[in-house]
Amino acid sequence: MVVQPLSNRCPGLWKMLTVAVCVALVGCLQAQELRGHVSIILLGATGDLAKKYLWQGLFQLYLDEVGKDHSFSFHGAALTAPERGRELMAKALESLSCPGDMAPSHCAELKDQFLRLSQYRQLKTAEDYRTLSKDIEAQLRQEDLREAGRIFYFSVPPFAYADIARSINSSCRPGPGAWLRVVFEKPFGHDHLSAQQLATELGSFFQEEEMYRVDHYLGKQAVAQILPFRDQNRRALDGLWNRHHVERVEIIMKETVDAEGRISFYEEYGVIRDILQNHLTEILTLVAMELPLNVSSSAAVLQHKLQTFRSLRGLHKGSAVMGQYQAYSSQARRELQKPEGFYSLTPTFAGVLVHVDNLRWEGVPFTLVSGKALDERVGYVRVLFKNQAFCVQHERHWAPEQSPCLPRQIIFHIGHGELGHPAVLVSRNLFRPSLPAHSWTEVQGRPGLQVFGRPLSDFYAYSPVRERDAYSILLSHIFHGRKESFITTENLLASWIFWTPLLDSLAHEVPRLYPGGADTGSLLDLEFNGGHLSFSQHQPEQLFPRPGLALKPSDFQVLGARYRESPLVSAWPEELISRLASDIEATALQAVRRFGKFHLALSGGSSPIALFQQLATGHYGFPWAHTHLWLVDERCVPLSDPDSNFQGLQAHLLQHVRVPYYNIHPMPVHLRQRLCAEEDQGAQTYAREISALVANSSFDLVLLGMGTDGHTASLFPQSPAGLDGEQLVVLTHSPLRPHQRMSLSLPLINRAKKVAVLVMGRTKREITMLVSRVGHEPKKWPISGVLPSSGQLVWYMDYEAFLG
Ligand code: BG6
Repeated sequence: MVVQPLSNRCPGLWKMLTVAVCVALVGCLQAQELRGHVSIILLGATGDLAKKYLWQGLFQLYLDEVGKDHSFSFHGAALTAPERGRELMAKALESLSCPGDMAPSHCAELKDQFLRLSQYRQLKTAEDYRTLSKDIEAQLRQEDLREAGRIFYFSVPPFAYADIARSINSSCRPGPGAWLRVVFEKPFGHDHLSAQQLATELGSFFQEEEMYRVDHYLGKQAVAQILPFRDQNRRALDGLWNRHHVERVEIIMKETVDAEGRISFYEEYGVIRDILQNHLTEILTLVAMELPLNVSSSAAVLQHKLQTFRSLRGLHKGSAVMGQYQAYSSQARRELQKPEGFYSLTPTFAGVLVHVDNLRWEGVPFTLVSGKALDERVGYVRVLFKNQAFCVQHERHWAPEQSPCLPRQIIFHIGHGELGHPAVLVSRNLFRPSLPAHSWTEVQGRPGLQVFGRPLSDFYAYSPVRERDAYSILLSHIFHGRKESFITTENLLASWIFWTPLLDSLAHEVPRLYPGGADTGSLLDLEFNGGHLSFSQHQPEQLFPRPGLALKPSDFQVLGARYRESPLVSAWPEELISRLASDIEATALQAVRRFGKFHLALSGGSSPIALFQQLATGHYGFPWAHTHLWLVDERCVPLSDPDSNFQGLQAHLLQHVRVPYYNIHPMPVHLRQRLCAEEDQGAQTYAREISALVANSSFDLVLLGMGTDGHTASLFPQSPAGLDGEQLVVLTHSPLRPHQRMSLSLPLINRAKKVAVLVMGRTKREITMLVSRVGHEPKKWPISGVLPSSGQLVWYMDYEAFLG
């Protein structure tokens, strides 16, 4: 007889047994994992952060974990000699407190235990680290303890990281089977490059899973609740959390303190690096990310965060406004011992408009604002929903709390402000949210308390059952190895990649001065328009003298004159762009009236961006449905590359207007998976397309620019391609990267009915002067060859380019 295995004979019983064994095994494994001794080494134990938050956080960790299978030792470390260090550390430990609901006697007992477990030691040399490790091992042997792991908390300036990291890696790692966790505080670099260098350096000492980079905002209770809230209210939010319903998102962190006492740090970083690049960006990703199926999976959360970074639209100068409180420069002179004439450009206030270009969020403005010396201390995320309701009855008949006509919003109130504590608020006319009952409880407002212009009673309002400091939450996560509340290397670099171009472009901008506190009035109020953010109020002159710049825009009229014997329009940039946009619209309307369509060829580069934005946001009568868009030139990169002219057009114009897709004609630079290969005949293909669709290959309007070397389109000095001959479209070579280009030829440009040349900025001053004097010499200055044979040429120059 063949004896069947048990699994075949009694499958049900077998399954139950398997499950039971597995559960027991997992239980055993977990229990084993949970037992052991943990050494926590606080580097910088007598510093400010340690005094203010870290010791209290460690004490809280001890209170939470004592008696649960682990034993602890706490090593406070610093460079200070032992005796003095011990004194300072004792001071830092003086004010430890227990939660309000703990009996004082119990608290005193636990505090006593904690103090006995906490020792100061000087850690200065590599030898000191070796001794530390030996001491830990000796303690483990003496007390017969198994080592679970070691946590090193780097509460020291980043320049000290490398040496300490080297010492830990070479002589302070725990024995086999025990874990190492190293914790770092920001700043994690100053820009993308420095962040990358620091990351590479740390990566040579530690594994990614060993590193915990702290952003303490991720430990704030309201911030930590964003994902669980989205998860637990999926049903209600599924239809709402998107561009169709959300009007805008505000992520705000206002402070009343200024930077006094910290200027040497602040002067190098400023508010964007100090707050927006990290705290506010992390919050942005929590709000905007696609929700993972399992929000408690660190890996999934981190992956989704990274995806969100990929959807962020690049920032440009017009995405941000900056301010500086008036006393800042004098504080900087004092603290940095700078001479009287020193003025700092460091922003202490910034507002930045961010767009998330994906299907969920396209078109929804995310406003990030932070500043020092403001009128109040408050932090919050506010998701404001569109209101599509109309209430027929007069307002006095509206159900006070639930009328669909009242504002609809969800607020994660991080802290301070009128409310004074963390909270999650949901307008009652949205839905009743579900929050974890053991940790969040419904709050009743004080009579008369208003939030965002509405009585608190308009909201379902919840606050934490027990308020906890961010650091104590993060220390507990570090202890439990929960990585989702920390910044991975990839996450960090993605954030710097996003912020660095903006920071570079703002490096020499002068921030708006504000008095600080309530006196600031509405000086920093913002408004956004399309992709642009600006102050609502014009710069008041008395606050902001600009030596050397005597003229104001209002002193000038749009200048009508001639340049190279053609009409010239000259004005301040804003006015110039708006004039050019109006002229293009007028030309378009005329062409559509006469021929039924308008063929417009556009250049790339930075100057036309403002024009594209103006056309996208200010010209609702533009006949886009009948417009064909062509490219004047293109860089030989994939069309999806940020360097591609088509990308610029797409980002600043196409995605905001309704041009039928079959009227859009990108240059075929990318064929057969290669770029601008002669054999692929991309230039000839484009020329054929133009001949087929544009009558006489004569564009209605060609928009050109002028390079500082006199190039136009992608026709460069000393390079004969495209300057004359039969070819309509040519491949050319640029002295700048990317070198390979495709361009309309001069003969084709000169067939246009109208050519507009836009020249902006002081850097163009020299070439503008030079070209005004030269004759027809396209080989030296291709721009001098632009002269439409039967069309019109108009120059548009701003005052800086024209008058210098
Ligand atoms: C820190 C910044 O990260 O956050 C400080 O460096 C800022 O400039 C602080 O004051 C604000 O944190 P909190 O927890 O007080 O809101």
